[in-house]
Amino acid sequence: MCGIIGIVGVEPVAGRLIDSLRRLEYRGYDSAGVAALVDGRIERRRAAGKLRNLDAVLAAEPLVATVGIGHTRWATHGAPTLANAHPHKAGRVAVVHNGIIENFAPLKAALIAQGRHFESQTDTEVVAHLIDRELASGKDPIGAFKAALDQITGAYALAVLVEGEDSLVMGARRGSPLVVGYGAGEMFIGTDALALGLLTNRIAFLEDGDFVAIDHDTARIFDADSHAVERPMHIVSAASALVEKGNYRHFMEKEIHDQPDAVQHTLSAYVDPITGSVASPGVDFAAIDRLQIIACGTASYAGMIGRYLFERLAGLPTDVEIASEFRYREPALLPGALAMAVSQSGETADTLAALRWCKARGIATAALVNSHESTMAREADVMFPTHAGPEIGVASTKAFTAQVAALTALAIAAARQRGRIDAVEEARLVGILLEAPRLIADTIRGEDTISAVVHDIARARDVLYLGRGTMYPLALEGALKLKEISYIHAEGYAAGELKHGPIALVDEATPIIVIAPTDALFDKTASNMSEVIARGGRVIMITDAEGATHAPDGVSIVLVPACDPLIAPLVFAIPIQLIAYQVAVFKGADVDQPRNLAKSVTVE
Ligand code: AGP
Repeated sequence: MCGIIGIVGVEPVAGRLIDSLRRLEYRGYDSAGVAALVDGRIERRRAAGKLRNLDAVLAAEPLVATVGIGHTRWATHGAPTLANAHPHKAGRVAVVHNGIIENFAPLKAALIAQGRHFESQTDTEVVAHLIDRELASGKDPIGAFKAALDQITGAYALAVLVEGEDSLVMGARRGSPLVVGYGAGEMFIGTDALALGLLTNRIAFLEDGDFVAIDHDTARIFDADSHAVERPMHIVSAASALVEKGNYRHFMEKEIHDQPDAVQHTLSAYVDPITGSVASPGVDFAAIDRLQIIACGTASYAGMIGRYLFERLAGLPTDVEIASEFRYREPALLPGALAMAVSQSGETADTLAALRWCKARGIATAALVNSHESTMAREADVMFPTHAGPEIGVASTKAFTAQVAALTALAIAAARQRGRIDAVEEARLVGILLEAPRLIADTIRGEDTISAVVHDIARARDVLYLGRGTMYPLALEGALKLKEISYIHAEGYAAGELKHGPIALVDEATPIIVIAPTDALFDKTASNMSEVIARGGRVIMITDAEGATHAPDGVSIVLVPACDPLIAPLVFAIPIQLIAYQVAVFKGADVDQPRNLAKSVTVE
């Protein structure tokens, strides 16, 4: 989950490493560090906590060098302390690592028995020692690196610096992403294209098991069998460079406001507004007898909304499962099914493993991803893009609505392909779908109406979210958003489930947020709301003008524009996100980098 970067450059390296790490902070921010070759010797600067702490260390103790490696950490082995901050150094070698070395404990014991001293509790430090030991036995750097790789198991992306090798950085990947960047007289490696966005747009994606040695002009790439290989160079999109927050206070705020565009751009990939038709390039849903959606967190809630739509519109049996359970459950999926991973990053370890599990069993795979150059995008048989642009805030917002938009479009395509609707009905549904960006924009403009309920929620210890139909996954998403950025305990429930337990939690101290568009289920949701009010519960109702006229006395209303049920998940997602955002700001929480979290979860 960490971010890594390596530069063999001609310009001062410290600032460039920091700029690249800033683009990787979404992967973790427990500590940060850099190592560079200063007059042939490795020097390190490290700091616990966020990147700005490393900035301060570098300001006090500059590094004058042009070749170096850097790291931003999401702690797995060892607390987020200075001693555990990467790069780790042993003898002539400095290493940064993303992933987990699973056999580090026996390796460490053996190295200690040989008289080697360890400074940290990390799994990573063994890699530095292993390479240094191989160098000491007379191997050249590539031979020593390869010999060390042969001894470790687990998931990793590594970047390595060797003392005395003035224009060499080595890298390797197994299970974690690593790319190579081509500059003019300089070369780079990094976790992803975004990390290298300020350095180059010419990128080669390493394959699993590859290792690489870069110097000023070349990248020598070897596959897992040590055969020299070439990996094609791609010119990556300018979007990789778009990671500024402009005039917004937080990336999350910006990304909430980006949503009309994110949804519009995503729909453009599927919908032809002239003919009123939808395409699903690469997949014929008529030829599929079951859809298995696999995802984690927010993406899984988008998948749950997708299930309602695929089953209702297209009559396509659809399951949704969180990837961490799916991958170890021995699911009884048969050929004829389509497994669809839904992921913003396209790198989430459990989702990727579940996708690979399906692929290995001959099941057709698709990846609905926002990072189009990600591992899932490249490994799935078909890629369904979302076009939300880079999402930096840890709390997913625009990626979620873009996923819901794409899934809605695909469900309409599936309905047509499976003969459940004709061209006229398809065009009608497309017309409704294309209203979503405008209605999302209208809802965002009404954000001030949320302020009235923010104080109430911010003071609460527990909050319940209730919804029915597609509003049930939104209730789950609302609770997740509030938990992750405001640290308030929150739970989402299907409103009909209330009487089966959760109603015991209802008291006057617990705000209950009821998501209730005027649709076929409105009356039932309103009944559940009355049950809560009868027990002294404080209800905040998110609804449209028609729904508001049916609200009992004492209910606080958050008003959204009226919309067709097809796009209600897109419109009602906005107040859900804004409530979490405004509560977090009110509480003074670190909105973009909440504690213990990372944007991209590349460990299981
Ligand atoms: C959402 O706010 C979370 N940060 C998290 O649940 C996220 O959606 C999940 O980790 C999946 O990530 P992915 O979409 O990149 O696979």
